This record gives sequence, structure tokens and C-alpha cells, in this order.
Amino acid sequence: MASGNKGPGPRPRPAVERMAPYHPPTGGRMDRLRLDFNENTLGCSEKVTQFIAEHLVENDLAVYPEYGKAVEELAEFFKVETNEFAITNGTDEAIQVLVNTYIDDGDDVIILKPSYAMYRFYCEVAGASIRELEYRPGTLAFPLQELLAAIQPETRLILISNPNNPTGSGIDLDGITRILKKAPHAAVLIDEAYYEFSGVTALKLINEYPNLFVSRTFSKVYGMAAMRVGCMFSKAENVAWMKKAQSPYSVNSLAVLAARAAIRDTEYISEYVGEVLAARELLYVGFEKLGIPYIKSQGNFVLFAAGDRAVEIRDTLREKGILVRDRSYELPGCVRVTVGTREQMRKFLTELEAVWKRPAK
Ligand SMILES: Cc1ncc(COP(=O)(O)O)c(C=O)c1O
Repeated sequence: MASGNKGPGPRPRPAVERMAPYHPPTGGRMDRLRLDFNENTLGCSEKVTQFIAEHLVENDLAVYPEYGKAVEELAEFFKVETNEFAITNGTDEAIQVLVNTYIDDGDDVIILKPSYAMYRFYCEVAGASIRELEYRPGTLAFPLQELLAAIQPETRLILISNPNNPTGSGIDLDGITRILKKAPHAAVLIDEAYYEFSGVTALKLINEYPNLFVSRTFSKVYGMAAMRVGCMFSKAENVAWMKKAQSPYSVNSLAVLAARAAIRDTEYISEYVGEVLAARELLYVGFEKLGIPYIKSQGNFVLFAAGDRAVEIRDTLREKGILVRDRSYELPGCVRVTVGTREQMRKFLTELEAVWKRPAK
């Protein structure tokens, strides 16, 4: 990266200069079978688009977003009080606001590796002192003992994806409470972006542990990644601090309409989850037949070991219109595939088998 003092113009903060660039693919995905971002592979409920269309009147777009109705409806849906959560511009904003609220330059932060890239991203922007703990080699299980041992009195933030992207590993409530007890002065985020597939949630603990923060998103099972809407939950006092640090209109009115409609169509969500869980079993069987090692997952994605053929597999599948994610940069030889419907997984397995059985390039 260019150093800020080489030309005219302002110099960025050193923390920003030090950051490695992060470029997730953002184009050319629309007409393919998207098994690369853990999205809902069918799209959102039709009731969401209908509700937006019904409520989309010219005057409403002229008005800054109003959150009152959504806050009430979401509170009821998530079984929390209206002051125990903030609606956010995706989980990404929830993480950003959490970091902005609690982290100063040089503060001790613990994240796990490999995990969701934006934890490191926002902590780096903040200039935090980041310590990374590895998921257990081989099994990629959650390193609970290692994390408990790593927590220091000065640790200010611990960021955990449960289940974890990209490993699919989970941590149970007992493990979470041990972390919360060991780190009473740290904010502990349990990012439940894939909760609907695992069924494990710490949400009910927010009033028992004042250091607990739980995030949820509408980007995954709800099929609304384009809308950018999520929620951050914690005890009311913490939420008040975070709202102080949050931009007042960061979630747009259409996203709010979408979230209100999405929580009414619970049938769509439970049917999709059922389909994905069945498709995940089918995928496991497919990997076993091909002799490809994989990690059992608690999310709607599975990591498999393609060895030195990871890039070849990704590229050949792309030519066939199927997108998967090569994660070799953090787990050598590993590819992550999003679980969609059984039909989509059959298509994926057919194409995978064709690459796998041909002589390596
Ligand atoms: C663990 C985890 N958290 C959060 C997100 C992003 O969520 P959002 O779209 O709500 O910002 C992702 C997306 O891949 C994720 O894997």
C-alpha cells in the first residue's frame, strides 16, 4: 500500500496504513449458482418483496427512516425489550459500532482464526492490539481451553462467530458462559449469523451477563444480504452506549420494511432451514463417496479439503456457472461451499465429481 507521506494530501492514520487490503468479490455473481457467500440460494420470501412494494410510496422515500414500528415488531419476535437491541446496517455495522464504542488504539482484542474477516478489519481500523487464536488443527474445533488461557485482565473485546465461518465449528452455551465469566471486563460478541442452522443461541443470556453482545443478521437464511440489515443485542445500558456511537439513520427505510416482513414469514425460514439440513447430509455423503475429507458443519456451508486442486476446482466450477470459495490463503487446500437445496447440491456434486476424477492439471 502507498504510504501517505509520498505525495500531497492528508496522511491516513498509521493504523489504516498498516492494514492489508481486503477485496471480497463484489461483481459477476448474479446469474450463477452462488455457493460462495453463504447466502440463501433461493432468495428472500416473496412476502418481503410484496410488503416493500405495497409500502413504497413516493412520500415515504422523502422522509428519513423511522424505526419505531420495526423496533416494536423485532423486539416481540426476538423476545427482548425494545431497548435491548439496535437495528444495524448488517452485522458489519454491528461489529463496527461495538468496536467504536469499546475499543481505543492499542487495546487488547482476541479474535479466532480462521474466522469472519470483518472482525480483524474493524479492529485494525481502530488500531487495536489484536491477538489471534487458531481453531484446533485438524478438527477445526473451537479452542475453548486456549481462549480461556489467553484472556487477560486488560482484554477489552473477544469476537466469536457461532457457528464459525468458514470452519462450521460451534461452541455450546456452557463454553460461552465460561468465557463470559473469565472476561468480565471485556465485551464478548457472539455473532449468530448462522444461528438458524445450529439452533444454539446466547440471546437469552443478555441480562445475566453484562459483557455479552449477540448479533443476528437478515443476510443469510432470510435471503436479504442486499438490504444490509441486522441486529445487535445486549443489556439496555450497553445498547444505549452503542446507540450513542451509531449513526442515527444507518439503516435505510426499505431494509426496515424488509425486516418487518421477513419475521412474519417464519414458515419460509423453517422450510428453508429444513431443506438446507437435508442438503448438508447429501453433501456429506457425496464427499465421502469421492473420498474428499470435509469438516462437519453447524452452518449452511461446508469446508472440504481439495489439497493442491483447490484453485483448479474453484475455477472449473466457475466455468460451469457454480461459485465456491477457495480458502487456501488461511487453510491451505480448503474450499468452502455454501449449502443450498438438495437439487443444487446434486448439481454441485456432479460437477465436482467430473473435476475430481479427471487427471490433475
Ligand atoms: C460470521 C459472519 N458474521 C457476519 C456476516 C455478515 O453479515 P451481514 O451481511 O449482516 O453484515 C457474515 C457474512 O459472511 C459472517 O460469515
